[in-house]
Amino acid sequence: MSEPLRIGLAGLGTVGVGVIRLIETNHALLSARAGRELQVVAVSARDRSRDRGIDLSAYGWEDDMAALASRDDVDVVVELVGGSDGPALELANAALEAGKPLVTANKAMIAHHGLALAEKAEARDVALKFEAAVAGGIPVVKGLREGTSANALERIYGILNGTCNYILSTMEDTGADFAEVLAEAQAKGYAEADPTFDIEGVDAAHKLAILAAIGFGARLDFDSVRATGITQVKAADIAQADTLGYVIRLIAMTDVEQGSDGAPALLQRVRPCLVPKAHPLASVDGPTNAVVAEGNFSGRLLFQGAGAGEGPTASAVVADLIDIARDEVGAPFSIPVARLTAMAPTEPGHRMERTYLRFTVADRPGVLAEITAAMRDAGVSIESLIQQGRPDEGREVLVAMVTHEGPERSVSEALKLLEGSESLTAPPLVLPILPA
Ligand SMILES: NC(=O)c1ccc[n+]([C@@H]2O[C@H](COP(=O)([O-])OP(=O)(O)OC[C@H]3O[C@@H](n4cnc5c(N)ncnc54)[C@H](OP(=O)(O)O)[C@@H]3O)[C@@H](O)[C@H]2O)c1
Repeated sequence: MSEPLRIGLAGLGTVGVGVIRLIETNHALLSARAGRELQVVAVSARDRSRDRGIDLSAYGWEDDMAALASRDDVDVVVELVGGSDGPALELANAALEAGKPLVTANKAMIAHHGLALAEKAEARDVALKFEAAVAGGIPVVKGLREGTSANALERIYGILNGTCNYILSTMEDTGADFAEVLAEAQAKGYAEADPTFDIEGVDAAHKLAILAAIGFGARLDFDSVRATGITQVKAADIAQADTLGYVIRLIAMTDVEQGSDGAPALLQRVRPCLVPKAHPLASVDGPTNAVVAEGNFSGRLLFQGAGAGEGPTASAVVADLIDIARDEVGAPFSIPVARLTAMAPTEPGHRMERTYLRFTVADRPGVLAEITAAMRDAGVSIESLIQQGRPDEGREVLVAMVTHEGPERSVSEALKLLEGSESLTAPPLVLPILPA
């Protein structure tokens, strides 16, 4: 067997500890698969004295994690610290500049700096791998880079944030409202103390931008992702969706469309959507993630599994290490950075879809007529309209509406016509309906 692959590992939190446990537990199996031993030689974290529930005495320690990159006994650097910039980025740059391959689970860093890091890796012909950065334990990066590489992909979409999915599916099961379920998710460890990145769709946007680059050969463009989170979804929307035959999920979606100048334009959108109950994504519950990729020859593929957690995320990190042990390099985004296509973002508004709208209205005559007139004037065709019961005193009246398929722009125009109307007591909620 060849020389061991010697690993320098930064970050000994959930994922870092998981990687060490996995390498220890599956040691013989990994050696057989990789053709050489995977051997952790040195580690780094902030606090050396912290009890992490594992024995670290066999490994060297670096207080300054960037030093891992310059150690002669480290062949590959694993970054499991997190944060788009700061020490994680410093370490990533140090590793690649030293000509050492890098494995990371850091979606924020890859979404923001993936192209620059990939250029460095390509210039030195070393691997940059980030399977764990998208959908945790699901091998979707490998699935798109390798499994579907013979296809022109038509669409990639899915559930990329376990926290939001847990919140939405728990709201569905219990009838509780968003704030209550978020608090419970935080207590159970499914949501961070500061959940902003998750519930506002930023985390899913990081992952979507990475998938769009790999799947469509587009230059990574995180800044163009249009992301809306789940904070405005009410228990009443979920109940209404249920009556209509849908569930609500935060869906990250990307595809390539023709821009008005005829050039390809990239849609990257994270939005809560109504998902038909018969769609495979509708049964994805709790913190699970799932990604659908539609290839022109493969047809629809579904990748599903744990999107986070110690074991699943470590599984993805170590799979990358096995690739490196086997000397598999390859372009990080499937196509070398210089040949990725710069695509403008799609212009908002032209997309054809069915839409769910929820209005919070004053309880007085003429309100429904005013809303339907605005729809008519903007050319929106209404499929169904439901007023949710009579209000008790002081309670809101909700009006839910589903439109026939039409351009997004028409719905926006109708809402503009209703702007400032005294009939609406809160901004309307607009959710796209995912086709079956
Ligand atoms: N957790 C998941 O399920 C999951 C899933 C997919 C991807 N990821 C990604 O994996 C990465 C790690 O996540 P995690 O959940 O394992 O994080 P975590 O539990 O918070 O652990 C982070 C580790 O980094 C260390 N660290 C932080 N700042 C440091 C610094 N300035 N210098 C040295 N060490 C520093 C911490 O040291 P101390 O322990 O000494 O404080 C800790 O060991 C992140 O990029 C995350 O987005 C996580």
